[in-house]
Formats: sequence, C-alpha cells, structure tokens
Amino acid sequence: MRIPFIAGNWKMNTTATQAEELVQNMLDRLDKIEDVEKVLCPPFVSLVTVKELLKGSSIKLGAQNMHFEIKGAYTGEISPLMLSELCEFVILGHSERRGYFGETDEIVNKKIKAALQNKLKPILCVGERLEENEAGRTKTVIGRQLSQGLKNIEPTHNLVVAYEPIWAIGSGKAASGEQAAVTIRFIRDTLVKLWNKEIAQDLRILYGGSVTSHNITEFISQPEIDGALVGGSSLKAGDFLDIANQAAAIKHRHLSSPLKGEE
Ligand code: PGA
Repeated sequence: MRIPFIAGNWKMNTTATQAEELVQNMLDRLDKIEDVEKVLCPPFVSLVTVKELLKGSSIKLGAQNMHFEIKGAYTGEISPLMLSELCEFVILGHSERRGYFGETDEIVNKKIKAALQNKLKPILCVGERLEENEAGRTKTVIGRQLSQGLKNIEPTHNLVVAYEPIWAIGSGKAASGEQAAVTIRFIRDTLVKLWNKEIAQDLRILYGGSVTSHNITEFISQPEIDGALVGGSSLKAGDFLDIANQAAAIKHRHLSSPLKGEE
C-alpha cells in the first residue's frame, strides 16, 4: 500500500524569517494530518531553521537541489553529504533546473546516485514540454528521462517520482486528472521494465504542475496518482493544509472501499 505523499516546493521564495512564519502558520495543523507523508522543501538557507521547527513533528524536510560531488572546489554549491545532516528528501531533475541551469539527464543521474549514496531520498522530476506534448512525444521524452536518469542505479524503495508536465508548471493550466494518470501509469510500467514489478508498485508517483486546493481531488482520486508536488500553493499555509487534508480524506475513502475486482 502506497502512503500518499504531498510535498511543497517553495522554489526561490521566502527569507529565513518568512520561512519560519510560514511553517509556524501550518505546523500544528499539518502535523495532525495522518496517513499522508508531508514534506516541505524550503530554500537551502532556511533548512536549518525549518529543521528545528519541525523537530518532533510528523512533517519531513527536503532540499530542492544539490551537487553530485560530496565536497570540493565547487564554489556556491551544496553537497549531498551536507544535506544528509539536515533533510531526508531532495528534489532532483526539476524542469527549472533542466531548463535554466542546463541539467542534462546525465547530470541528474549522477545526482540521484550521489543522493542515494548519502542516504537522501530523491524526488525525481520528469515531464515534457508543450511542443513535445503536442507532437505526441510525451512517452518518448519521459521514457528517456527515466532510463537515463536511473541508469546503473540499483532498484530502491528510496525514490519518489514526480510527473510534472512543463506546460502545467506555474501556468495555472494543470493537466487533467485522467491525462496525468495515463502518463503516471506509463511511468510505473517503465519502472517495471527498468527495475522490477515489486518496487515499481511500491514507489510513489506524484503529479505536479498548478496543483491547488481546488483541483487536488481530481488528481488524488485517481488510484494511479499517489500525491502531489506543489509549488505556488505550498507558499500559503491555508492552501497547503487544504491540499494535504483533501489528500488524506480521499485516500482514506479509497482504502475503506474494496479495490476494483475485489468486490
Ligand atoms: P506549481 O509548481 O505548483 O507552482 O505549478 C510545481 C513545481 O514546479 O514543482
């Protein structure tokens, strides 16, 4: 059984003071939401502050990026070893990293290896551009991102995958639940081929791209979709709580009703 996963990707938003305020505005209520894994991914400079605030709560911490080397002369970079003392998760291969900072599948692959070696759990982002989607190339692009990104990596349960169509990120134009479910099914099938069925069925695969408290139900009610990577809506305590609460409610409903074919 896959526990739903709701992560907030704050991107390059919030000073340390604002981060503290945001966490304090949701901490108690988010902490109480059960049976959903809740993860906050603030900017690097707020990781220490947020870690302190989350101590003793059920909310987990993630970073938004890292270098693949564990130390060395890489001015301005943050290593997996450094993160391993602070957080459990790290977002890797986000389309903004790929698009604005030239991250290739090869770099993403190195980062995933380094994260796992340093006991961090990667949230691997994959997704197609609008032109690729319109040209019917979604599966080709995502198949490549997965096979290259996970190249020579032993099957592991310590991975989360996020399907984030680039055209849906920050655009207010989310994919439909059904559209996302089709691609997520493809991602799971690809993981079966690359790794194995047992692990592929256990891994959480999220949808990301303009998720809000108004559309989260559409995604989470799809049995294929195990949660969401939330950008803009994770910067408002009330919205993020609403999203996590709805995810908990819907998945509970699923769990208490018989699965298809088991009636
Ligand atoms: P968005 O971002 O929710 O603001 O579209 C999602 C993401 O980029 O992870």
